[in-house]
Amino acid sequence: MSQPNGGTFDIVILGAGSGGYAAALRAAELNLSVALIDKAELGGTCLHRGCIPTKALLHAAEIADQTRESEQFGVKADLVGIDMAGVNAYKDGVVARLYKGLQGLLKQDKITLVQGAGKLVAKDTVEVDGKRYTGRNVILATGSYSRSLPGLEVDGKRVITSEHALKLDRVPSSAIVLGGGVIGVEFASVWKSFGADVTILEALPRLVAAEDEEISKTVERAFRKRKINFKVGKPFEKVEHTSNGVRATIAGGETVEAEVLLVAVGRGPTTANLGYEQQGITLDRGFVITNERLHTGVGNIYAVGDIVPGLQLAHRGFQQGIFVAEEIAGLRPAPIDEAGIPRVTYSDPEVASVGLTEAKAKEQYGADKVSTYNYNLGGNGKSQILKTAGFVKLVRLNDGPVLGVHMVGARMGELVGEAQLIYNWEAFPEEVAQLVHAHPTQNEALGEAFLALSGKPLHAHS
Ligand code: NAI
Repeated sequence: MSQPNGGTFDIVILGAGSGGYAAALRAAELNLSVALIDKAELGGTCLHRGCIPTKALLHAAEIADQTRESEQFGVKADLVGIDMAGVNAYKDGVVARLYKGLQGLLKQDKITLVQGAGKLVAKDTVEVDGKRYTGRNVILATGSYSRSLPGLEVDGKRVITSEHALKLDRVPSSAIVLGGGVIGVEFASVWKSFGADVTILEALPRLVAAEDEEISKTVERAFRKRKINFKVGKPFEKVEHTSNGVRATIAGGETVEAEVLLVAVGRGPTTANLGYEQQGITLDRGFVITNERLHTGVGNIYAVGDIVPGLQLAHRGFQQGIFVAEEIAGLRPAPIDEAGIPRVTYSDPEVASVGLTEAKAKEQYGADKVSTYNYNLGGNGKSQILKTAGFVKLVRLNDGPVLGVHMVGARMGELVGEAQLIYNWEAFPEEVAQLVHAHPTQNEALGEAFLALSGKPLHAHS
């Protein structure tokens, strides 16, 4: 018996997160008809369970710290406490407003939003609750989930993922954060600011190990100062329940106890049982393999976002969604340069980077072909006003363009836009040094670093 027809569209998109909805919006602008399917809310992980709510928590954490430290600015204030209900109401309000705006955009663009769990049942068809949605093109955008480790059972109470952590109605008195990557350091930062005793357990030799080594060292120094405990270089072995929490054991037998353990050991692609392999799509450890035009090699099926190997970042998903919509519309967009995607970790201190780390640049071009320059925020007026420490590090090809920009310190994420332009335009330091940066801004730190690298330092030593 044939299934009821949900309709035929230019594009059927499975997954309405950052990658999926960006594809839908761009496709609609290009006058393509779109069905956008999701089993949960429009906006996906980033809007509801990721970027937006965590950054709201981090902002509340910053306010708590500023209140604590207000005396050094001559302002008298006492931090009476953290009202988690109030913090959550603020966080949920931010998400709700953005969600409403996004729903409005979809409506305005006449995108058909289908609520339900979809499955790819043919090369051009996604089935939802027995209804078939046919697309001249299909985009897979089913995102990712919090990974766990063998023998580590997430119960949502004592052993939790970031999703549970975002919904906690209290500040845990103590927390173990398993994994010192992006999620790990962001939550460690929030909970410490809210008054918890925090210990990060990281298998690799340093925190934020994907970043430049000097950046990791600075984050570690700052965390030590903030009394955030961390143990690096030893993988986690097991977790047991205690009378009022958990006990984690790391290689070598050392144990740590706390009220909760947050699992932050990476995110896996959501691709199981969705019919992808049955339609001939190649998966590698669950990730969908595509060519650089994000085509799966099967029919007219594309993939975007966290299911495609590479950085699992919302803005990469947005860009990939736009790219595929334009590709389908025949605009032949330029492929996305993955190295040019900016990265920000919103902990205190904040980390922002684009391009190659010093180690990667030396590996790629040879140690003698690469030079670096570190500009200390101690020379930057605005950073001194904010009383933040940190630095901007430039990695350049000798007599060539900038290969990487790495920054650590308060609000450095806001500078990544300029760093990204410099990187993506393959600018030479001498060209950037000619740009006038407003004074006093933290942006000047970038300008000063480029001046120094061009041999004409202003508020810095060469
Ligand atoms: P991650 O890959 O950044 O970090 C996971 C960490 O867990 C790694 O450092 C890894 O060495 C460690 N680990 C793995 N197994 C371990 C073991 N057995 N014992 C101890 N440590 C172990 O992944 P994370 O932090 O879970 O984030 C997931 C994704 O979400 C990332 O791709 C990230 O880019 C994205 N995200 C981005 C944010 C941002 O842009 N600000 C914020 C939060 C997440």
